[in-house]
Amino acid sequence: MIDSKREVVRLRETNRSDCKGERELSRSEDGTQEMNFANCYKDVNRANAYATLEFANTYYLAYRDLPEIVAQHVTGTRAIDFGCGTGRSTRFLRKLGLTVTGVDIAEDMLRIARATDPTGDYRLVPGANLDEFPVGSCDLVLSAFTFDNIPGAMKTRIFRDLAKLLTPAGIIVSLVSSPQIYTHEWASFSAKDYPENRLARSGDVVRIITTDFADRRPAEDILCTDESYREIYRQAGLEVIRVLTPLAKGDEPYAWVNETRIAPWVIYVLKRAT
Ligand SMILES: C[S@@+](CC[C@H](N)C(=O)[O-])C[C@H]1O[C@@H](n2cnc3c(N)ncnc32)[C@H](O)[C@@H]1O
Repeated sequence: MIDSKREVVRLRETNRSDCKGERELSRSEDGTQEMNFANCYKDVNRANAYATLEFANTYYLAYRDLPEIVAQHVTGTRAIDFGCGTGRSTRFLRKLGLTVTGVDIAEDMLRIARATDPTGDYRLVPGANLDEFPVGSCDLVLSAFTFDNIPGAMKTRIFRDLAKLLTPAGIIVSLVSSPQIYTHEWASFSAKDYPENRLARSGDVVRIITTDFADRRPAEDILCTDESYREIYRQAGLEVIRVLTPLAKGDEPYAWVNETRIAPWVIYVLKRAT
């Protein structure tokens, strides 16, 4: 059950050698607090590693269908890339002709995004506070992998805030890891060192290593099933209008492992519920 009444505050984590970055505390309305996740992207070494990723291997499947989704569902040009990281997803949208603001909570990631794309618009949003953006001003919100690291209670609050930014015809494209990514091997990822992932339930921490870059510290994600995502969207006032689970065809120039038969990603296309 998703508790939408919790608010999240941040607590600086000093030991970053395990790529735990900045820990986040979840605070419920009664004032109790609970340590529940760490954003491993608030880490300069992870940011440098992440900046080397482009659109190859398993990531190819995450981005392959986005141009068609944008062409079919987006009516204007104003976009927010929520959790833009080092700007890969923002640059991708800009190449599609959109005017994009990339936002993130990790300054180390944003610094690289700005250096790579000096004419781009990249902004720090501490606590994922989106108040600087006018209500009803956005034709598209993309979140690519961002919600993998955000606990359920905070997911609902942020999706509700993102929904407010949409124009009446605006959409959110929520690109997330499928639960299967944490229990299989991939061209870009390995989870074989974390057999406990198989026992994880929605809301539990799961670990996975990105093999596409040299930083072999695992990312700590929050498992979120399709059922949980749908409940979060419902609570956030969003309606699912399309779901894609991209599979490789087999003729791509990548050494697929499971990508031709198991989808590593899930792409939800969302609009405001009527
Ligand atoms: C896996 S990276 C993806 C970056 C980019 N979207 C891409 O496709 O390359 C996830 C990003 O989400 C950011 N993030 C995590 N929690 C966030 C939050 N609550 N608000 C904004 N950004 C967040 C992280 O700092 C990180 O840069």
